[in-house]
Amino acid sequence: MSAPDLHGTGKSGPTRAIVLHPDIKSDRDRRDAGPALQEAVALAAALPDLEVVDAEVVRLPKAQPGLLFGTGKIAELKEKIHASEAELVLVDGHVTPVQQRNLEKEWGVKLLDRTGLILEIFADRARTREGVLQVELAALSYQRTRLVRAWTHLERQRGGLGFVGGPGETQIEADRRAIDEAVTRIKRQLGKVVKTRALHRASRKKVPYPVVALVGYTNAGKSTLFNRLTGAEVLAKDMLFATLDPTMRAVELPDGTEIILSDTVGFISDLPTQLVAAFRATLEEVLDADLVLHVRDVAHAGTEEQAADVAAILSDLGVDQNTPMIEIWNKIDLLPAERQEELRAAAARREDVVALSALTGDGLEAFLEAVTSHLAPPRFSSVVELPYSAGRARAWLFEEGVVEAESQGEQGYRFDVLWTARQKKAFHALPRS
Ligand code: GTP
Repeated sequence: MSAPDLHGTGKSGPTRAIVLHPDIKSDRDRRDAGPALQEAVALAAALPDLEVVDAEVVRLPKAQPGLLFGTGKIAELKEKIHASEAELVLVDGHVTPVQQRNLEKEWGVKLLDRTGLILEIFADRARTREGVLQVELAALSYQRTRLVRAWTHLERQRGGLGFVGGPGETQIEADRRAIDEAVTRIKRQLGKVVKTRALHRASRKKVPYPVVALVGYTNAGKSTLFNRLTGAEVLAKDMLFATLDPTMRAVELPDGTEIILSDTVGFISDLPTQLVAAFRATLEEVLDADLVLHVRDVAHAGTEEQAADVAAILSDLGVDQNTPMIEIWNKIDLLPAERQEELRAAAARREDVVALSALTGDGLEAFLEAVTSHLAPPRFSSVVELPYSAGRARAWLFEEGVVEAESQGEQGYRFDVLWTARQKKAFHALPRS
């Protein structure tokens, strides 16, 4: 994808950017503005060659159709932009094509909205062929909407003048056609890539290793935990979306169980619809996982909202409600000692929660135990009776280590056993002699 030119200013050095988070009162789903702004700044920082020079929450009662913000605010922001010599304004929200054009003209700088920003990051991070294609597809559909809307707007402006196919319109139509052709081409390529991937998955399914997928909000610490477990050189930077494509490694647990650990792209709240579709493929491993590890940054101010976002997106993606999940309360090292203790105690009371620090390794043992016990197949109790002649079957029960208690009656042995469904089936298939 040819990324929008962030550096078209002719200047060298990082692009100076201002981040604005519009806190729109009429928006009923609006998030807590402080953490939202912080997240937007972190998102912006994930782009290379970008320097965030200022950031601000802009409160407004409702979005203005033509300019998004009110005129007074626009003038105030213009001064700020010029004083800080910013070349780019990142608006952490939806900006219509018309608003974008008007604001760019008003401020004399480039503007990216939230979707545009996330697309930039995705484009920068996509590593596999499929990832690159998916991002290109998302970017094209985003650009196409912009073209169509701008074109409709122009047409409306021209309305009644009787032009048919003025130069502007022709150009836009040609652009639109070019985009459509590119989309068709990419979809065809994607079809091939997905087919190959399905083959890979099918052959992997033959390997009887459980798949454990790490999911979580961007920057929660998935890659750090993944690295700690695998010793692999997966990127772990203080950057969002360091992992766009799933990375998989075989890992042996302390009890000898082998698993396939899969690191996935970070989730994000308010992920534009086009991008959700683009990420289905990169999250395929999550759909197949035997165990999902939901990594949370519990030191983050918005940790509860983040957890809710992840849960919503997972269910949106169709992750099976019955897929076992462990919640990992990561980054406890960043919390005051008292709070750390509270969380450790709360986690200890629950089987599906582990508090740890992926950075220091604190709590890792309990975490590994939790993974092991979640992956162990369920066992259930039965009572088994055998005649005294069934020596081989009795020996088998002891070899399998399933006998809890044994007693001898008039007819034969009686065992209390604790076993898995597989063991029960194997037992009943034994020759009785
Ligand atoms: P994405 O790839 O963007 O989804 O991020 P991620 O979830 O893989 O996060 P990553 O592992 O890259 O960690 C993000 C930042 O948090 C890095 O700077 C890590 O060093 C830091 N970090 C991760 N775990 C911990 C932790 O337990 N304690 C502290 N203090 N920092 C941590």
